[in-house]
Amino acid sequence: HMAGSLPAGGDHLGGAFGQSPTLEHWYPQRLRVELLHRNGVDADPLGADFDYAAAFATIDLEELKQDIKTLLTTSVDWWPADYGNYGPQMIRMAWHAAGTYRIADGRGGAGTAMQRFAPIGSWWDNGNTDKSRRLLQPIKHKYGNALSWADLMVLTGNCSLELMGLPTYGFGGGRLDAWEPDDGTWWGPEVWNPHDVHSGDDMVSRDERWHGQNGDEDYDLQSPLAASHQALIYVNPEGPYANGDPMGSARDIRVTFTRMAMNDEETVALIAGGHAFGKSHGQVPATEIGPSPELAPIEQMGLGWHNPRGTGNAEFTSTNGIEGSWTQDPTRWDNSYLENLFGHEWEQTKSPAGALQWTPKDPDAPRTPDAHVPGQTHALMMMTSDIALKVDPEYRKVCEKFLADFDTFTLAFSKAWYKLTHRDMGPKHRYLGPEVTIQDELLWQDPLPDAEGVPIGDADVEALKAAVRAAGINSSDLVFTAYSAASTYRDSDKRGGANGGRIALAPQKDWAVNRRTVPVVEALQRIQQQHPSVSLADLVVLAGCVGVEDAARAAGVEVTVPFTPGRVDTTQERTDIEMFEWLRPIADGFRNFRSERFEQFAPGVALEQVFLDRANLLTLTAPEWTVLTGGLRVLGTNWDGSDVGVLTHRVGTLSTDWFVNLTDTDLVWTKTDDTETVFAGTVQATGEQRWTASRHDLVFGSNAQLRSVVDAYAGSDGQERFVHDFVAAWDKLMMLDRFDVKGHRRYG
Ligand code: HEM
Repeated sequence: HMAGSLPAGGDHLGGAFGQSPTLEHWYPQRLRVELLHRNGVDADPLGADFDYAAAFATIDLEELKQDIKTLLTTSVDWWPADYGNYGPQMIRMAWHAAGTYRIADGRGGAGTAMQRFAPIGSWWDNGNTDKSRRLLQPIKHKYGNALSWADLMVLTGNCSLELMGLPTYGFGGGRLDAWEPDDGTWWGPEVWNPHDVHSGDDMVSRDERWHGQNGDEDYDLQSPLAASHQALIYVNPEGPYANGDPMGSARDIRVTFTRMAMNDEETVALIAGGHAFGKSHGQVPATEIGPSPELAPIEQMGLGWHNPRGTGNAEFTSTNGIEGSWTQDPTRWDNSYLENLFGHEWEQTKSPAGALQWTPKDPDAPRTPDAHVPGQTHALMMMTSDIALKVDPEYRKVCEKFLADFDTFTLAFSKAWYKLTHRDMGPKHRYLGPEVTIQDELLWQDPLPDAEGVPIGDADVEALKAAVRAAGINSSDLVFTAYSAASTYRDSDKRGGANGGRIALAPQKDWAVNRRTVPVVEALQRIQQQHPSVSLADLVVLAGCVGVEDAARAAGVEVTVPFTPGRVDTTQERTDIEMFEWLRPIADGFRNFRSERFEQFAPGVALEQVFLDRANLLTLTAPEWTVLTGGLRVLGTNWDGSDVGVLTHRVGTLSTDWFVNLTDTDLVWTKTDDTETVFAGTVQATGEQRWTASRHDLVFGSNAQLRSVVDAYAGSDGQERFVHDFVAAWDKLMMLDRFDVKGHRRYG
């Protein structure tokens, strides 16, 4: 062939749609605005009208659970069950699904069955969970779309525990599956070579995740991470750097389980409870194991980690690399894990695969049966991360308590399991089915009281609006306060939001970024005294609507901002201050806020990346993100009242001035200092400085996708559309946490 004379039909195709190299390859640092449009209805075969709650309600949960329990004890040839019971491997699957949850940004967790997708499903630590999910396929197919994978995985964990004797605390359905991988969550430095996890070669990736050294005062894990090593759910079972140091392991366990929102007692309950069951698999060195599902050859049909030895399963199974069981009866709920841990001295040894583990010093210690070969027995096993519970003084106290009182341990484990598996579901309104535990109010659910009395009606709304206007608070303050109340919401774990009225409670009321809300909330509380039927939470939002309507009118557009009453006020006692502290923003572009801690806590992270992160947690599209930013700026909602980014001379008017001035080609923008957070906009011809703006503003002019959206409003026909789109985005923001409103928010 001569160059340029190839046939047009594509039979010399050198690359295809989506094949690397693409944008990510050429511009790894670019702001990935398109991430805001992921996992939408287009990817969902069930479509936007599918009502999961209604479908789930058709299931007879008892029958389903019976089906699962039958499956758990029906061993199949392609993956024979250890001890004839799939329960233990299913518990591990469910724990790993939930255990990715992290309190810092609420991402991870069992809520959308992300374990089906890379990277999570291909993490070394999720080895052979692909088999567990595939084993469940008959149940999934029998119940069809009435049962999401996410619910099935958690429910199977519960059924496994029950089958082996643990009374579970409850089950709430209602998890909506994701239909595509999550490509945005920051999981930290990555190591793809599984051998690194075992050899200690993962030091580089590990050290990049931590401040200080294990044992130092300031030793801590980078936020928002919750795993000590990449590709693990929590900690390396062999200890930090696979060094077999139980005390170092205990420190890592404490940091990582705290990031999972678990205290010491819950942590011990979970580890000791989980390891009452099943075994670790370490017959074959990692070097011999095939690639993870995402890298496996096509004919493996989505399964990975091919094991070439023997049958590749049953007694040949290799998963983590450590080999053995913690107890004499690994399919029964009993206290033998702690009895063994404390009843013996343990010494280091190696598994057949070469992993570091512990075995009783006493040769007469009880033994545990082989999971497949009748008549064979093995020495008991502990991991370095298990010995950690014995050597750490605080964990030890909890262990001793559980050792002495099995019932207390049983209840602690079942409650911690319930929390682990429901932590990311948000308000209890989202839980479905007959096993929702309603008898207790659990603080981690951020409880709200039930609404009392008749909800306020249209007449009340009008009277309240008049009262807000009469109070003489400017629209800027009203909008700032409502925004501040609503913006704690994060769709990752569905916490936060305006409902509950927590803007008036600690810790929110004390955050610097919320300072401007304090006098506004006080003024609204005075109005509330005159109109006791309205909740403060509703009044804050309604006052924001007043602010938006007045600002729109000033721009010459009459609108009624939608308002859905029914919010309730919760109490300080029902607010876990420590857990709400995690919702405190490190930066918030909508209020042009950059915390003093930013450099310390987010070194090297661009402010606009954090802004994108916030937009994602608020489920905003690029247009919504843009109109909200441009609208809030001209309403003057900077946290400190400054005029940075307030590109208008008529603050309080919902004009398109920000869009027009941001794209003004007469201006040149220059940084005002080395932090590159504030920039000056100068008229090139005259040298006159006209505006200042932050990265939060300029990103909408510099990023090509956002600039295109800005163009859509900066034009001569933009004003009317802008006001209506702002109002729609505003209403969406105010309603993000309203899971109490029926039929609201199918997605997210
Ligand atoms: C198995 C580590 C916490 C439940 C395992 C295995 C490892 C491990 C390495 C063996 C995997 C294999 O080779 O098959 C850890 C570490 C933990 C931890 C380092 C935290 C410090 C938990 C928790 C639970 C749990 C919180 C549940 C509440 C299980 C179960 C198995 C298991 C049931 C047995 C799986 C089977 O028999 O196939 N764990 N684990 N683990 N883990 Fe954990």
